[in-house]
Amino acid sequence: MRLLVTGGSGFIGSNFIHYWMDVHPDDSLVNLDKLTYAGNPANLRDIEGSENYQFIHGDICDEKIAEQAMRGCDAVVHFAAESHVDRSILSPHDFVRTNVLGTHVLLETARKLKIGRFHHVSTDEVFGSLPLGSREHWTENTAYNPRSPYAASKAGADHLVRAYHTTYGLAATISNCANNVGPYMFPEKLIPLAITNLLEGKKVPVYTPGNQVREWLYVTDHCRAIDLILQKGSLGETYFVGPDNPEYTNLEIVKKILGTMKLPETQIEFVTDRPGHDQRYALDWTKIKTELGWEPEVNLDSALKQTVDWYSNNQDWWKQVKSGEYQKYYQKQYGRSL
Ligand code: NAD
Ligand code: TYD
Repeated sequence: MRLLVTGGSGFIGSNFIHYWMDVHPDDSLVNLDKLTYAGNPANLRDIEGSENYQFIHGDICDEKIAEQAMRGCDAVVHFAAESHVDRSILSPHDFVRTNVLGTHVLLETARKLKIGRFHHVSTDEVFGSLPLGSREHWTENTAYNPRSPYAASKAGADHLVRAYHTTYGLAATISNCANNVGPYMFPEKLIPLAITNLLEGKKVPVYTPGNQVREWLYVTDHCRAIDLILQKGSLGETYFVGPDNPEYTNLEIVKKILGTMKLPETQIEFVTDRPGHDQRYALDWTKIKTELGWEPEVNLDSALKQTVDWYSNNQDWWKQVKSGEYQKYYQKQYGRSL
């Protein structure tokens, strides 16, 4: 099989490419990536010379590039996106462009080239915000209720994918996954930001009051789920992908990281809350478990330990990432230099 991966130089995409080359060594992969601030060729350095891997530097919004990349492919796994909520609040334009228009260009290209399979990678946050303390979980039938520009742009993309399946019969599937954690995650998201700040002797900014709840899944569990959906998923269907952990607040997650790194809680610094901050995310992923037999394999403690170890052992990677543009972003977002 020849697979087009979009956004393969980012966090989940690069983990997925590593996973796929390991598990399906006879397949060939094309990675179409614009290399935005979040895309990093270093994530795939070890495989860039492989015969069955091709990198195309380009924008998914560019119809010609999209067609060049997709031609001859049997399937598409679409990760490319602007992916950070706080950046979407600071400047939403790129989110609408890449996440909505870019997805549309890929769908049109897939329709034109009669691509056999299109998997769209989406997120839990398109469903909005559950009340803290409630036991409610979202299911694949829950109505969309996005509340940040990021979530709204991903929701727009999900709707387009579904429309292309219904209207044109595109062989599409969607997964909505919980927050991922693992190697190569850009240190703007809570967990890698916390770990790398702590490794530099700096404090962890926790949005006040720190009682919001997210679910965290180890990235390779997400990659396995996408693989299974591609192999066995029903066309036109959506699958939730989530962890099997108790719920933890952001403050509890940061305390767990401090525990893993044997550092004191005085390293926590409460900062101004995110506008429109979603309170709680909770996915009911019974469908993928019962229909496809998927279950997560890595529990939260092990996921955090493996992630702390990776950032401790790969300091050159994140020190390079945290220079330049990142410093400007940090100043704008947190009102202080790093
Ligand atoms: P990321 O920000 O780390 O990587 C995004 C990648 O897309 C980068 O390599 C970037 O260069 C590329 N890209 C951005 N705009 C592009 C464009 N116009 N054309 C081509 N490439 C472009 O993101 P991630 O965390 O790896 O997320 C990947 C996907 O998974 C996204 O669609 C995201 O919505 C979804 N997702 C992420 C999480 C999470 O916890 N990170 C959870 C659920 C779903
Ligand atoms: P994040 O990693 O940005 O993912 P998402 O917003 O997509 O869930 O944030 C996870 C949680 O951590 C979210 O509730 C916001 C919070 N958070 C902080 O408290 N401090 C921070 O510096 C960041 C980036 C996030």
